[in-house]
Amino acid sequence: MFSCITSFIIVFSICLIDITDSSTVIVTNGSPVSYSSYSSLTFDWDACLAYCVNDEMCMVIFNNGSDTTCQLFKIGDLQSVKRRYSSEVKVAFKLNRDNSSTCPANDTLSGGGYVLGYNDTLRRQSYHGYSISYDPDNLMWNFNSTGVTMCSSAGVKMSIRPKGPWCFFLFNAALVTQEEAVSNCSARWSGVLSGIETPEEFQAVTEIAKNNVYESLVKYYESAAWIDGVRKPECVGNPTCSGLSAFTFSDPTLSSEPTGFLWNSNQPDGTTKDCLMFKINSDKSYGIDDELCTMRNSTISKIRLAGYLCGEVPKIR
Ligand SMILES: *[C@@H]1O[C@H](CO)[C@@H](O)[C@H](O)[C@H]1NC(C)=O
Ligand SMILES: *[C@@H]1O[C@H](CO)[C@@H](O)[C@H](O)[C@H]1NC(C)=O
Ligand SMILES: *[C@@H]1O[C@H](CO)[C@@H](O)[C@H](O)[C@H]1NC(C)=O
Ligand SMILES: *[C@@H]1O[C@H](CO)[C@@H](O)[C@H](O)[C@H]1NC(C)=O
Ligand SMILES: *[C@@H]1O[C@H](CO)[C@@H](O)[C@H](O)[C@H]1NC(C)=O
Ligand SMILES: *[C@@H]1O[C@H](CO)[C@@H](O)[C@H](O)[C@H]1NC(C)=O
Ligand SMILES: *[C@@H]1O[C@H](CO)[C@@H](O)[C@H](O)[C@H]1NC(C)=O
Repeated sequence: MFSCITSFIIVFSICLIDITDSSTVIVTNGSPVSYSSYSSLTFDWDACLAYCVNDEMCMVIFNNGSDTTCQLFKIGDLQSVKRRYSSEVKVAFKLNRDNSSTCPANDTLSGGGYVLGYNDTLRRQSYHGYSISYDPDNLMWNFNSTGVTMCSSAGVKMSIRPKGPWCFFLFNAALVTQEEAVSNCSARWSGVLSGIETPEEFQAVTEIAKNNVYESLVKYYESAAWIDGVRKPECVGNPTCSGLSAFTFSDPTLSSEPTGFLWNSNQPDGTTKDCLMFKINSDKSYGIDDELCTMRNSTISKIRLAGYLCGEVPKIR
């Protein structure tokens, strides 16, 4: 751990970057305005800071000038903090560390954090996130929490993407077109066809496929599931478009340059109105391919559309 100090005329700000906890703690002067509950700890300020860094539920700590007590606010328990121009009242916010190893220039930053949990009863991972934003007109930091959110059932995978948490699952369905798949992701799941953000997500989809009927179908023909990705209109019949950039996506949490679309060799190779699919090849290897969006039972390529990959943001359940 290392720290750096930025001095203002009245306000001071310390940034602690804890490498192991991958969090940044911003210390400044202010006091809680709107909150539901807190715990009182009999710690001095430095001990309170250290405690917060190691408590994954800690979002904010506050000290009113006392040498022996501080208040700890867990994620979701506090909504706003007012800036105070007094070094007596100290407040610290914990943020997920961004990519940089340097401290922010000042305390008017925005950011957030989250904690992952596991609900044994429901056998599901949970995500509890928060965001912090500074309102310069009212000299307030506002905190907004997601509440404890989960995916819809135990087998559904959760992935924490740069744009936020995402749930995905591979549904089975016989002979379905891409359009039917899109409409069922929204009707059955309030979701969309999911993209594949990372190689880890690709691996997770592979595991769901192995647990389903996908591999057993391969005896007779190759099988595939629709995933997010439709060739851009300007790329239909346009050989200058290549790779993933030829496709447009509706998955709202997919990054602009996802790394999880692990192509079959020499793919994508379409030039018509093509859509992306997750495919199980005749040798039982897996890869991404592009095929006609209207295809569901092509005798030529011997591909059966056996399902679709839906995704949605986790919800409070
Ligand atoms: C600070 O908080 C402690 C514990 O709640 C309280 O006993 C003390 O009077 C407060 N001090 C000030 C200056 O408000
Ligand atoms: C994080 O840092 C690495 C290495 O410096 C860089 O390649 C990557 O693009 C950065 N990611 C983000 C989200 O800034
Ligand atoms: C705080 O820093 C950000 C960039 O890090 C800058 O845009 C903003 O103007 C700064 N605010 C103040 C009050 O200095
Ligand atoms: C698991 O989720 C259920 C339903 O939301 C909830 O009632 C229960 O308290 C949760 N259990 C734990 C340990 O959080
Ligand atoms: C809080 O976040 C939710 C999304 O998580 C958003 O819909 C809502 O507008 C936010 N509220 C405020 C006050 O920013
Ligand atoms: C779409 O959803 C409906 C209603 O749940 C279901 O009856 C139908 O089999 C689904 N179709 C596909 C292709 O999954
Ligand atoms: C799909 O194609 C195969 C091979 O041509 C055929 O035997 C089968 O009846 C077709 N299924 C449907 C539902 O069209």
